[in-house]
Amino acid sequence: MAKLPIVTVGDPVLEQTAEEVPRITKKVAKLIDDMLETMYEANGIGLAAPQVGVSKRIIVLDVGEGPVVLVNPKIAASSGEEIDVEGCLSIPERWVYVKRATELEVTGRDEKGKPVRIQADGLFARALQHEIDHLDGVLMLDRMIAEAEIIEEPEVEVAELGKGE
Ligand code: NI
Repeated sequence: MAKLPIVTVGDPVLEQTAEEVPRITKKVAKLIDDMLETMYEANGIGLAAPQVGVSKRIIVLDVGEGPVVLVNPKIAASSGEEIDVEGCLSIPERWVYVKRATELEVTGRDEKGKPVRIQADGLFARALQHEIDHLDGVLMLDRMIAEAEIIEEPEVEVAELGKGE
């Protein structure tokens, strides 16, 4: 595994629509491993392939319940809405309020290429929406309702913001 550099806002790769992944090649498997390492090293709870400069539809997440890998994820159903604060590893030192669905059903494939269907709510649902947005070139700044000022320890749950921040 290797830690990859994270690209930041302004890089055109973050504005592109990422490509579907037709199959899990060795190269894709390595990318997934590297993305997980990069996410954990950065104390993030989610990372999308465009954030490491690769315009492919792959996301990795860990909201505290172990790693989740999704290839070609699609939101199959969503309901509810909630405004809360998010951060993004590609947009350092900024936290913004974004409205997201509270319950989500996502389909896709896992790291082995096996079809999966995931039910999510709370922080996991928010993080999934944030990461899937990255695959469509959409950033939290495109959806922001207001800037959030977080001076020290956040009291709210923040997507992609690490615990030790
Ligand atoms: Ni992000």
